[in-house]
Amino acid sequence: MNICFIMYPWEKIDPDNDTTLALIKECVKRKHGVAMCIPADLTIRNSVTTANCQVINRMEKTPSSLKSFYNKAELREEMLPLAGFDVIFFRANPPLDPIMLNFLDSVKDDVFIMNSLQGMREANNKLYTAAFGDAHSNIIPATHVSKSKRYLIKQIKESKADKMILKPLNGFGGSGVILIEKSAMSNINSLLDFYITNSDGSSSYVILQDYIEGADQGDVRILILNGEPVGAMKRVPGSDDHRSNVSAGGSVQRHTLTKEEKALCKQIGPKLVNDGLYFVGIDVIGGKLVEVNVMSPGGITYINKVYKLKTKIEEKVIDFLEMKVVDKLQAFDRRTRLRKAVEDA
Ligand SMILES: Nc1ncnc2c1ncn2[C@@H]1O[C@H](COP(=O)(O)OP(=O)(O)O)[C@@H](O)[C@H]1O
Ligand SMILES: [Mg+2]
Repeated sequence: MNICFIMYPWEKIDPDNDTTLALIKECVKRKHGVAMCIPADLTIRNSVTTANCQVINRMEKTPSSLKSFYNKAELREEMLPLAGFDVIFFRANPPLDPIMLNFLDSVKDDVFIMNSLQGMREANNKLYTAAFGDAHSNIIPATHVSKSKRYLIKQIKESKADKMILKPLNGFGGSGVILIEKSAMSNINSLLDFYITNSDGSSSYVILQDYIEGADQGDVRILILNGEPVGAMKRVPGSDDHRSNVSAGGSVQRHTLTKEEKALCKQIGPKLVNDGLYFVGIDVIGGKLVEVNVMSPGGITYINKVYKLKTKIEEKVIDFLEMKVVDKLQAFDRRTRLRKAVEDA
């Protein structure tokens, strides 16, 4: 099959740990055609959505280590029509550009897109967890989303907890996630101004969330493929940070899913599949769902490493894509046969 990764630039890849690179390498190893582009490389050319791609030259033998694969991969530039691919694997970082999604709308019937456009539209920021209809905070922590300073300050003052978490709706990798302590409120006005009011005069929503006790011991990243957990790891924050993101200095350990976490996956899995969110990474603390990462969830390489996995997670992901492509081709063949039967009648 031919697969186009819409992602961050090749030069930005961390060749030791990058999840997208592990997925690309698995495709190359299976002799699939791999092209990459960044969202800004998409154009519409004579009504055809085209991407200025970097195509990976086929390799006789794929190096086993990720780093040597990265170093040995040869890239060539080609303008290619997106509808000619079997799969588009969207792996760019947030925020999601809605115009770019309109480009992809034009090919969504031709190409299997992971995650689906509808799913990415619905889940492109941290509001998505609110869509699970959890009015009693059973699966997500008590959460407020607002751009009203007065409302937010009132919630902090009225909250029973002495700590809360404030974060932007669109962040990733732990950026902008801060701890608010009730005992130190003198900065809150200025902090909220900073988060809510943008330099161009527009304003942004922020999330205010109950601090989940135990978060200092780490959070759990669970990768979910087609509604089922396929790997998990514990991320422990560094000694001088409250965030567990690896990009914010967290370290990684093995983690076996607890009963509570398995139940959480069971509860949300069907909705994820229904929304076309086939490959996501969820962040869980104390059994509560903190975030659903749908754009470019990471963790594959770390989980492979801490578990010394034989069947690596990227193999399962590419197996899934191959299955989807076969389904699509079979449906197309069937339709062609049926059309012919009608035409010939
Ligand atoms: N409600 C919370 N309680 C305690 N810690 C939290 C909470 N929300 C976020 N954190 C910490 O901050 C990290 C990043 O938050 P998250 O919502 O996953 O945003 P990001 O998109 O930046 O990863 C989490 O992994 C966790 O360590
Ligand atoms: Mg997160």
